[in-house]
Amino acid sequence: MRTPYIAGNWKMNMTPSAGKAFAEELRAAAEKAGADVKMMVAPPFVTIPAVAEALKGSNIIVAAQNMADHTSGAYTGEVAPAMLKDLGVNTVILGHSERRSYYGETDAYINGKVLLAIKEGMDVVLCVGETLEEREGGKLEEVLSTQLSGGLKDVKPEEMAHITIAYEPVWAIGTGKTATPEDADGAHQFIRSFVAKMYDSTIAENLIIQYGGSVNASNVKALMAKENIDGALVGGASLSVEKFLPIITFNK
Ligand code: G3P
Repeated sequence: MRTPYIAGNWKMNMTPSAGKAFAEELRAAAEKAGADVKMMVAPPFVTIPAVAEALKGSNIIVAAQNMADHTSGAYTGEVAPAMLKDLGVNTVILGHSERRSYYGETDAYINGKVLLAIKEGMDVVLCVGETLEEREGGKLEEVLSTQLSGGLKDVKPEEMAHITIAYEPVWAIGTGKTATPEDADGAHQFIRSFVAKMYDSTIAENLIIQYGGSVNASNVKALMAKENIDGALVGGASLSVEKFLPIITFNK
């Protein structure tokens, strides 16, 4: 049985003061509602300290949206894993499509960050997903295969317990055009079968695969009802408690 894992990727939103207020409101609302899924929020770097303080002692994981591929040194503007861990952050989202498309992150570059995060004892949410052109060109499985084999290269079987995969079709991110539960489940099924071949069936069966791309209160139940959808990586709808609470309590 895979525990549902619902995450909020705040992207470049929420100042430290706004993040603190939001985190306090979300914590109170989630506790009052008896939310019993695995929950995570991923603030921007500068907002992490205030949010981590507000969520200290709660069961809401605070994650980073990215991190450096080195441990320290002359890498202007970068944030090292040890700096995140010092803030109580032990989970990092890597390979988001926005980092791939806006900042040119390649599978090999992302893989370096994945291996470093694991070496530093962190958990990883590795994002994969196709563009509309790739889907319409029948390249869905080819793209997912490349991203998974590239992103997970040299990750040992015993380290896969630290990996969550987030399937985020690029054409569904921020567009309101959510993948149908059937399409999302089909892509998740392929991801799980690919991991089974890359590793083994037990690792694949235990792998948490989140769906991301215009998840909201009205579609989360149908998505989570699917066999291979174990959670959600939510963008826009994670920025207000009113919108995010129904998602983290989808099973209530
Ligand atoms: O990482 C989650 C994000 O890409 C999804 O964004 O706004 O479509 O929920 P959104």
